[in-house]
Amino acid sequence: MLRISVFGAGSVGCYIGGCLAATGTSVTLIGRERILSGIAKHGLTVTDYLGRNQHAAAGSLRLSTDPQAMADADLVLVTVKSAATPQAAQALKSVLRPRVPVISFQNGIYNAESLSEVLAHNPVLAGMVPFNVIDRGDGVFHQGSEGVLEVQNDQLLGGVDKQFARAGLPLIHHANMKEVQWGKLLLNLNNPINALSGLPIRDQLSQRDYRRCIALAIAEALSVLKAAGIRPARVTPLPPSWLPTMMDIPDWMFARLARGLLAIDPLARSSMSQDLQAGRRTEIDWINGEVVRLAQKVGADQSSCGTPVNSALINLIRQAEAGGRQDWTGSELLLQLRAAKNNR
Ligand SMILES: NC(=O)c1ccc[n+]([C@@H]2O[C@H](COP(=O)([O-])OP(=O)(O)OC[C@H]3O[C@@H](n4cnc5c(N)ncnc54)[C@H](OP(=O)(O)O)[C@@H]3O)[C@@H](O)[C@H]2O)c1
Repeated sequence: MLRISVFGAGSVGCYIGGCLAATGTSVTLIGRERILSGIAKHGLTVTDYLGRNQHAAAGSLRLSTDPQAMADADLVLVTVKSAATPQAAQALKSVLRPRVPVISFQNGIYNAESLSEVLAHNPVLAGMVPFNVIDRGDGVFHQGSEGVLEVQNDQLLGGVDKQFARAGLPLIHHANMKEVQWGKLLLNLNNPINALSGLPIRDQLSQRDYRRCIALAIAEALSVLKAAGIRPARVTPLPPSWLPTMMDIPDWMFARLARGLLAIDPLARSSMSQDLQAGRRTEIDWINGEVVRLAQKVGADQSSCGTPVNSALINLIRQAEAGGRQDWTGSELLLQLRAAKNNR
């Protein structure tokens, strides 16, 4: 059986690591003392919105702040935030045996490439986590919404598949993960809107003005992707091109038609919201920033490729990171974004 190490034991890393450990996989968690001490005291419990409730005793896990602890790993899952990827790559480079595969379970588009550039002797596969995870404290990590993990198709995944399936985390394989990552990024365009609302995702999504903000950001990104010849994969029941229309429908209709999107833990917030509240750097440059960079690559002079809405969201998040507002009402935010769009 493969020994699996998780580098960056936070919400996603502890949830995936906990599901694997609870079903008998040897798991090493590399992370910060503030997270690991809770697990050392209480063990690691994973729960989900469907009733999963599994526990791995602290003694069954290896917990360390030192990357050396993953020296014997047969597979490494990288689950740090995007800003920490270069540092993670250096840590892995100094420790991993050659040919040990690495899966990046991170948002954004180029984290796997950033790892690969440094890890010349290790295959790096892109992965995608579609669901939300909440750190409930005391070693409890909760999957708050639906979705199945996706990963770059590769022959290396034979044994990995079995271990993940046994842990109740089947892996969907994809030949073209870029399309999947862009499909996920379109949904992540809600992260800054959720963070600026100061509300849990479910409350925020229930309000049409916030959804209209999402629609503006997604519609803009879809134009840029079209100009770049990229077809984002469908990661919700709806095709990506329908998302702006879906976001714009009245609240009563949205509550009926988007039950899946609203079937989320009532307290769940985007990880960007959690970062802002904790005073940490957000992933805005790796989410909305990717839309702006792609537009620049495609050609800023093409009229279809302006990104005033996503640029405005980046500015508002930067202001919030510096202590600015995080309590925008839907109508206030919509006014800002529409003004940005009309003034371009
Ligand atoms: N949370 C979600 O619901 C969710 C869902 C889907 C996808 N994602 C994506 O998954 C990725 C991970 O997100 P997350 O929410 O799990 O992040 P997270 O909770 O912040 O976990 C990452 C952990 O790694 C630690 N870390 C960073 N550098 C480290 C190092 N050199 N050594 C040891 N530990 C280190 C961080 O500590 P510091 O904070 O001290 O740096 C943090 O505790 C992101 O790309 C995110 O966008 C998240």
